[in-house]
Amino acid sequence: MLRFHIITIFPEMFSSPLSHSILKKAQEKGMISVGLSDLRGYTTDRHRTTDDYPYGGGQGMVMKPEPLVAAIEDARQISRKPRVILLTPRGRVFDQAEASRLAQEEELVLICGRYEGVDERVSSFVDDELSIGDYTLSGGELAALVIIDCVTRLIPGVLGNVKSPQEDSFSTGLLEYPQYTRPEEFRGMKVPEILLSGDHMKINKWRREMSLKLTAERRPDLINKQQSSEEEIKLRQVHPTRLYAALLHYPVYDKNGRVVTTAVTNMDIHDIARSARTYGLRGFYVVTSVKALQKLAQKIITHWETGYGSEYNHTRKEALARVRLKDTLDDVIIDVERECGEKPRLVMTSARSGKGRTPFGEARNMLEKEPSVPFLLLFGTGWGLTDAVLADSNYILEPIEGGTDYNHLSVRSAAAIILDRLLGKQ
Ligand SMILES: C[S@@+](CC[C@H](N)C(=O)[O-])C[C@H]1O[C@@H](n2cnc3c(N)ncnc32)[C@H](O)[C@@H]1O
Repeated sequence: MLRFHIITIFPEMFSSPLSHSILKKAQEKGMISVGLSDLRGYTTDRHRTTDDYPYGGGQGMVMKPEPLVAAIEDARQISRKPRVILLTPRGRVFDQAEASRLAQEEELVLICGRYEGVDERVSSFVDDELSIGDYTLSGGELAALVIIDCVTRLIPGVLGNVKSPQEDSFSTGLLEYPQYTRPEEFRGMKVPEILLSGDHMKINKWRREMSLKLTAERRPDLINKQQSSEEEIKLRQVHPTRLYAALLHYPVYDKNGRVVTTAVTNMDIHDIARSARTYGLRGFYVVTSVKALQKLAQKIITHWETGYGSEYNHTRKEALARVRLKDTLDDVIIDVERECGEKPRLVMTSARSGKGRTPFGEARNMLEKEPSVPFLLLFGTGWGLTDAVLADSNYILEPIEGGTDYNHLSVRSAAAIILDRLLGKQ
């Protein structure tokens, strides 16, 4: 039995999550127990004060040390071997490996902060400080519930099927493979043949491959930690990067060298989306701030995503699912940063040769060597990207040379050739 002991000023927040599903059953089966200490019970003044103004001034209130430490000391008295954890955004980030470690404990005391956090001196009375992720919650109660849920499902016997927690995303160090249930065909999309084959060796192999592929596409940071066979290393190389592409309709030059906005075209969106899907790009942005053009682009995407087109041809749908519309290049950069946790390096493409161009081979090596760094390939429309974009770019790729004096590839052709040079099998 693993005992959780929560110290909080809002014990009522726990009642609903603890009285449903897995957590309810785990308590009924005697596999966990959850005790709640109302922090106000450890105050000594008439108003049951748990917070006060911060020394040095500043926003908000800080939780006082006396009631918190009294509650911790009480918990240590009652239990033989409690592990006392302060929930704080400054803590080590809680993950599946940490959950497995905590599932071995006998008693976990989880301290929920509120307001601007807790008095620094409380840290001396705890064994550990944990955060549930890089964002700020209003209080530690939801963080405590996340930890209780995640740890409880790892206790043997809590889940009906003993194997399933080991197959979940993160337990293997990878994201989980895609799951399907009935019906066999839904809106034109079929369950992969192999899952209907009954051949469990093949199914397991397919699942492992899909896990690796998905993890490489979405979380290359996880896959780099993996120890794996040669076959798996090959698989990783299929989608090794955090590469994005953006097709800019502004700011670009027209043939007279003026900075203009160009029109969105159906074919560019389709073809670059299909190339992006083929070469495993994480996203393809279409950039225009003209609302009418955005509407048109959205119409094209929706037709293939949810309209008639999605049933007619779902491989096209799969490609268009990666298209994202943005007003400006800055919006694209913000979006990639939000997804990857850091700003992308900008890789501009140009039909013009010039100083400091990065050869394709060098760029390819860079992508391979730094799979966790986001890169954003910039493609221009009209007569090419402006000097302002060039000034902001980290790299400018060498132009594609056809060996003749004609140098007018369409942007969708150039995009396909460049993606092949950067990511295609050699
Ligand atoms: C509004 S937060 C305090 C944030 C604090 N001023 C800071 O910037 O670190 C109030 C309480 O919510 C809890 N909390 C907020 N975000 C959390 C996270 N990511 N993981 C765990 N606990 C969190 C902590 O108990 C924290 O003391």
